[in-house]
Amino acid sequence: MVSDRDIERAAGILKAGGLVAFPTETVYGLGADASSADAVRKIFAAKNRPADHPVIVHVADASQLADWVITVPESAKKLGRALWPGPLTIILQRAAGVPDVVTGGQDTVAVRVPSHPVAQRLLRAFGGGIAAPSANRFGRISATTAAHVRKELGDAVDIVLDGGAADVGIESTIVDLSGTQPALLRPGAITRERLETVLDAAVLTVSHNAPRAPGTLAGHYAPQTPLVLIEAEDFERQVARLLEQQKQVAALARRIHRPADADVVWIAAPRDAEHYAHELYATVRTLDEAGCDVILVEAPPPAAEWTAVRDRLTRAATGSLAPENG
Ligand code: TXA
Ligand code: MG
Repeated sequence: MVSDRDIERAAGILKAGGLVAFPTETVYGLGADASSADAVRKIFAAKNRPADHPVIVHVADASQLADWVITVPESAKKLGRALWPGPLTIILQRAAGVPDVVTGGQDTVAVRVPSHPVAQRLLRAFGGGIAAPSANRFGRISATTAAHVRKELGDAVDIVLDGGAADVGIESTIVDLSGTQPALLRPGAITRERLETVLDAAVLTVSHNAPRAPGTLAGHYAPQTPLVLIEAEDFERQVARLLEQQKQVAALARRIHRPADADVVWIAAPRDAEHYAHELYATVRTLDEAGCDVILVEAPPPAAEWTAVRDRLTRAATGSLAPENG
């Protein structure tokens, strides 16, 4: 439970240029006063994040979008009306006063109106925009609980507001409206199909490694244990093969059942994409902490509602095999 006193204290810390970790409906954020370059720089130090990675500005409602961008196009108004507050980040041409450290020196800025009640209370008490990336060390899995934030960032944060487990569980959908055509930069709970319906226009999918969104590096969201995605039909065979080689195996399966008597760390994942996403990062942390030789993950189906989960799992796999990416 977050009391009004906690909110007042956290807002005071933001005003004084400090760092506040707070829950959003997607993942926990590591927040600082977005109008203060010095405050935002502390985020980068705490996360060990390269300086050219832009951060999202969180505001209390869509009317505050105008404080951060040059103009609010009709497309942004439509999306804001339909999907804010919620797990959607919109990229637009930035206003002149936005600190370079927020935008990574780019001429665009990312803005989001989160729906989590604690995030809303904090934004309203603070009044301004809160710059906040996910509250994890750079390249690691986003934190979806207050305990995970403390584990990741420890004393680097002045206060952690505990709003329980994040509802969505994976980061917001990012749509770029700064160009001539809307482009999806990061898939999330709000699907491309949904954006296209609201906009009544096609949304391009941009290559994930495009330099526009450096935080979407191929190897982001990585556990320390090598993580491998395996198709359902090969899953049991792969588990058996690794066990034969005396490997310690951790498994995250959806449809495949745990083999009888096998000495494996086994987690049965939810069948549907929404619940799967909700538990994904906490589950991968648990499997990572089991200290096995490998984490095998049953590949999710190719359907549209699994796009965001598949994206995060693919990055986790890439990053776990090439930790220098993180
Ligand atoms: O759900 C979320 O979006 C969470 C919560 C805390 O709001 N935040 C989050 O922030 O995931 P972060 O920093 O971990 O990821 C933000 C992504 C990064 O990939 C960053 O490169 C991209 O947004 N980004 C930010 N500003 C951008 C800009 N102006 N142009 C392109 N990409 C941008
Ligand atoms: Mg992040």
